[in-house]
Amino acid sequence: MHEKKIAVLVGSLRKGSYARKTALNVIEMFPSGYLAEIVEIGDLPLYNFDYDDPDESEVTLPERYVQFRQAIKAATGVLFVTAENNRTIPACLKNAIDIGSKPNSDLAWKNKPAAIISHSVGKMGGYSANKNLRLALSYFDMPIVGQPEVFLGNSPSLFDANGRIHVESTRQFLQGHIDRFVALLEKQLA
Ligand SMILES: Cc1cc2nc3c(=O)[nH]c(=O)nc-3n(C[C@H](O)[C@H](O)[C@H](O)COP(=O)(O)O)c2cc1C
Repeated sequence: MHEKKIAVLVGSLRKGSYARKTALNVIEMFPSGYLAEIVEIGDLPLYNFDYDDPDESEVTLPERYVQFRQAIKAATGVLFVTAENNRTIPACLKNAIDIGSKPNSDLAWKNKPAAIISHSVGKMGGYSANKNLRLALSYFDMPIVGQPEVFLGNSPSLFDANGRIHVESTRQFLQGHIDRFVALLEKQLA
């Protein structure tokens, strides 16, 4: 049987990103039968509807858009792990969401189950990014894991020198979220 793919989108382009470190930790929390992998978004050209506008015949759709949309469509579900920039989601993540949202007749996010993890170096755990992400996704009929929501505060304190989350209660909390995500995925597949 083929593994079920989970597309993991990281809302930060920084090399040492805590969002990326978190993503790499939770990728390992999926059960056998699942393959969770980061789908890179940092090199996606800035979204411009001219690319999808049938009246703009002289504009060619970027190959990276084609690849990205295919990667999302091929996934059983999408896991977002994001930082917060100026009280909303980082531009790289919004760009990826916009790219996946067109063309209307064949949008990549449609009905795709999702889970959201936000973090910040401060105490609020990326609350606004998490909520703004839910708002953007609400347009696509995506079933999203509900309670308890995941806002990881003081994120730098969670990792050891190898990037592993060493706070056991946080590991368990994240594992619980992934378990709920898998339950949601299995329900959708049934
Ligand atoms: C442009 C910019 C805006 C930021 N805005 C917020 C913010 O609104 N809320 C917050 O908690 N942290 C904010 N921060 C701090 C980030 O939480 C911090 O840089 C974090 O490490 C970024 O996540 P990363 O480690 O995954 O790259 C901001 C950082 C930058 C560079």
